[in-house]
Amino acid sequence: MRIGIFDSGVGGITVLREAINILPDADYIYYADTENVPYGTKEKEVVKQYIFNAASFMAKKNIDALVIACNTATSIAVRDLRGIYDFPIIGMEPAVKPAVENRGNKKVLVTATELTLKEEKFHNLIDKLDSRDIVDSLPLSKLVEYAENFIFDNEIIIKYLDEQLSKYDLEEYGTIVLGCTHFPFYRECFKKVVPNHIDIIDGNIGTVNHMRNLLAEKEVINSYGKGSRTFYSSGKEDKERLKRYLDILE
Ligand code: DGL
Repeated sequence: MRIGIFDSGVGGITVLREAINILPDADYIYYADTENVPYGTKEKEVVKQYIFNAASFMAKKNIDALVIACNTATSIAVRDLRGIYDFPIIGMEPAVKPAVENRGNKKVLVTATELTLKEEKFHNLIDKLDSRDIVDSLPLSKLVEYAENFIFDNEIIIKYLDEQLSKYDLEEYGTIVLGCTHFPFYRECFKKVVPNHIDIIDGNIGTVNHMRNLLAEKEVINSYGKGSRTFYSSGKEDKERLKRYLDILE
């Protein structure tokens, strides 16, 4: 079984890590569009073309399924891609549903890229789930830049998060949603900045569980895999750089 995982850059590696945890024997092909990252601050139509190019690259790799390990790309193109390709395509969206269901009497803060938060898909999700107006949203695009540049210095990240989150009375919030796959690299920094009662959640586990169920339905789940991991990128970065990100999530 061969699974393609795609992101604008290194964020999807946080999804690859979860996928390896639940299906270690699958062969994974990871593609990072590092030539064009970030997506989240660009024009929708431009980004859509990048996504089509990436999907076409992946389709040639004989994959059994494709995970769009990017909330931004999913909101822009998942529907179109499902119309083009026959293999299952698994998308991602900010984990607003579990956040709203488990919020107690507190509010929910969704963090993501600007484009994800602007898109119709996100607004539809909020319309469906936020009838009591308890969900707020905050773009944190700079975290994408930090992750791409391998900046994991606590001081820099904590300063940025402190600045961004200082606009909110965090005592009112019960959950922060990490709605961009680059953000889980910084989960520990979020924890240092927010009060202890706040849960920090992402959609990664939900996505890989959904992927596993779909593959089981298609009966490819037990097909032979060697547990290989192959990395490609549109930029100049070599395999070793992408692997380093997987290593820091060990
Ligand atoms: N990792 C992507 C996401 O989940 C977006 C990062 C970017 O702006 O390229 O939304």
